[in-house]
Amino acid sequence: MAELDPSQIFALEEKLALFTPADRLRWAYETFGNRAGIGTSFQPAGIVIMHLAKTSQLPIPAFTLNTGLLFPETLELKKKLEEFLGIKIEEVHPAQTVEQQAASHGPELWKRDPEKCCELRKVDSLGKKLFELDLWITGMRRDQSAERASTPLLSLAARPDHSDVWKLNPLVEWSRDQVWQYLKDHHLPYNPLHDRGYRSIGCWPCTQPTQGGDERGGRWPGFEKKECGIHTKNRKI
Ligand code: ADX
Ligand code: SF4
Repeated sequence: MAELDPSQIFALEEKLALFTPADRLRWAYETFGNRAGIGTSFQPAGIVIMHLAKTSQLPIPAFTLNTGLLFPETLELKKKLEEFLGIKIEEVHPAQTVEQQAASHGPELWKRDPEKCCELRKVDSLGKKLFELDLWITGMRRDQSAERASTPLLSLAARPDHSDVWKLNPLVEWSRDQVWQYLKDHHLPYNPLHDRGYRSIGCWPCTQPTQGGDERGGRWPGFEKKECGIHTKNRKI
């Protein structure tokens, strides 16, 4: 694995900005090998990234944080994608099952304290996974929401012990339409909930269909919360 100097981050980002998404993934694999990992929630951008890796013959492993509260349609899609792409997508689980969490923090924590629930079910699991990675690849895009408008292509995130982990968002400048066009062009499976008005899909208790507005408007309805924390709590540069 090549050692990258964090002080080169802006120069590297400039270089990667000129690459296609597939070439960004090639750089990722050539630089980090199996210490690169694609995090996916089976939404369109993650599907495009896994497909680009597969068709570019880059065996970058993929993982998903299975909170135990995913829609059945999402779990079904995971199976379909594994078959379609001929890959295995690792499931990373929280320390506690939903039942154990109910016993120690009270039932339906997401209704009372979604921040804490996301921390227990997503942020902590990702933290554990990041110890196995030097590069975390995600499907974040700038046009997803106002909060994401200045998302970098390449950045540094932190593991729970505050050590550095690189983070690459290879589709950061793609629009929602571009992502969907790619899915159509390649006949890729997608979550059928999208056809029922869901624009961004996470855990079932915290996801609603939306009409218009920003893509992530249907997440945590009734709360000020806009992010689960995996992209905000461990940001470094
Ligand atoms: S988030 O609020 O759920 O993080 P979003 O649904 O917009 O945001 O996903 C953005 C990116 O975060 C995804 O493309 C994926 O890389 C990563 N991500 C989100 N949820 C998960 C998950 N459950 N497992 C793995 N990665 C995830
Ligand atoms: Fe809990 Fe909702 Fe966060 Fe899922 S999205 S971990 S149910 S608060």
